[in-house]
Amino acid sequence: MKQTENQILIIFGASGDLTKRKLIPALYVLFKQNLLPKKFAVVGASRSPLTDETFRTKVDEFLPKEEGVESFKKMLFYQPVLTNTADDLIPLKNRLKYISNDLNIDKNFVFYLSTPPSLYEVIPRLLWENKLSKSSKYFRRLIVEKPFGTDLESAKKLNINLLNYFKEDMIYRIDHYLGKETVQNMLVTRFSNGIFEPLWNRNYIERVEITSAESLGVEGRGGYYDQSGAMRDMLQNHLLQLVSFVAMEPPTVINATAIRNETIKVFQSLRPIPENMVSKYVIRGQYTESKIRNNKVVGYREEPGVDEFSRTETFVALKFFIDNWRWAGVPFYIRTGKKLPTRVTEVVIHFKSVPHHLFDSANSSSTNNNQLIIRIHPDEGILVKFGMKTPGAGFEVQTVNMDFHYSDLTDTTVSAAYERLLLDCMQGDATLYARGDAVEEAWGFVQPIIDAWQNNPEIPVYGYPAGTWGPEEASKLIANAEWRFPCKNLTDDGLYCEL
Ligand code: BG6
Repeated sequence: MKQTENQILIIFGASGDLTKRKLIPALYVLFKQNLLPKKFAVVGASRSPLTDETFRTKVDEFLPKEEGVESFKKMLFYQPVLTNTADDLIPLKNRLKYISNDLNIDKNFVFYLSTPPSLYEVIPRLLWENKLSKSSKYFRRLIVEKPFGTDLESAKKLNINLLNYFKEDMIYRIDHYLGKETVQNMLVTRFSNGIFEPLWNRNYIERVEITSAESLGVEGRGGYYDQSGAMRDMLQNHLLQLVSFVAMEPPTVINATAIRNETIKVFQSLRPIPENMVSKYVIRGQYTESKIRNNKVVGYREEPGVDEFSRTETFVALKFFIDNWRWAGVPFYIRTGKKLPTRVTEVVIHFKSVPHHLFDSANSSSTNNNQLIIRIHPDEGILVKFGMKTPGAGFEVQTVNMDFHYSDLTDTTVSAAYERLLLDCMQGDATLYARGDAVEEAWGFVQPIIDAWQNNPEIPVYGYPAGTWGPEEASKLIANAEWRFPCKNLTDDGLYCEL
């Protein structure tokens, strides 16, 4: 395990939800696992007039009630800051000096931007003006939360702005999907096994399907979501990053440059969807009022913070191609949405069927296409579906499952995304963070779709009752086949299962 140098983590926007729900609990897990540096402090910074004590009490809500928490909390400090002028950061600068001297911590600083995105333009400049953004002796790093821009132009502008004050190798653009153990395992599954990679191409794969479904709705984030929608909130970032891990060529080594070089090649090979083809290749939907388990569920337009005439998509499904040697002609399908029947993210590789059919199939819908299902969550694991002879007379084939579940690994726990990503940044490893050029390429792919929706209001927004698998039109995207309907349990699918 790499040594983590002594350092101070400064979280801007520390009074917000992300800090107490994700960041502090992740740091606590690292603390329990002895993975934090020997000398370490967290300084929360935001406008709210909290003290160290009130900050510690605030974040306590999401920490377990157990011994050890109190010693962890002693590492937490809080400094109120304004961000109007360079001088506003002086109290923070003095506080950092004081804490590092008092606790004998090297002046290595990681700045975490967990603020409203408008401040991503401001805080890096203020840090630079206060000479906090570089040092000849110590490291300086900047973590930027999503959303990284709201379109291609704003993402480019943000990159330019950040690069005025921090060098690219100091900038860590977070995409929490890359921190997921199961997403990283995509690379291990592909590149550490001799059995998959030879088949992982247009010769053997018929199509690739990615589903990222959520049963929750916008949960009080209507104001944000209505300006964003599923395309910006999930697809441009998390799901395209996932596509890059499914589709990339083997990197020469596992490090930030090699992996990110492969990611960008995938993004550069995405076939653009022209404006006049958007309605054919992209289906958008919005959930409407319905009843789930006998309880009335409001439609998206009735959610607080959402415009009553909103045309923001809470569901999107698209078909696209990756124009390169490996994937030529293989359709990729992605769908994601809120208020779907269950929470599940998975990648399904559909292999081509055999060239000559010798046997009868017990189940015509499973016409013996082999599937490899990589479950990102829940019931993390891998499932292979293949044909087996139904015992008895004749040669009837039925589809059976071969499965691995992470939960079977009794002596290991699957760490949460933020634990892995925070530790990586503390250790200076940017492999699982998005590089500026890749973020722009990903925006470049989705931008024509967003523009087409904006410019052509006649492109339909299909309603779907909350609790269903999205608009019917999404099923028509896949020719002569249907989406897999996943359940909570990896090995269940079909009509009846636990959701
Ligand atoms: C966030 C989105 O980035 O990812 C949310 O803003 C979404 O809308 C969440 O719910 C999904 O993350 P996960 O890890 O629960 O799939």
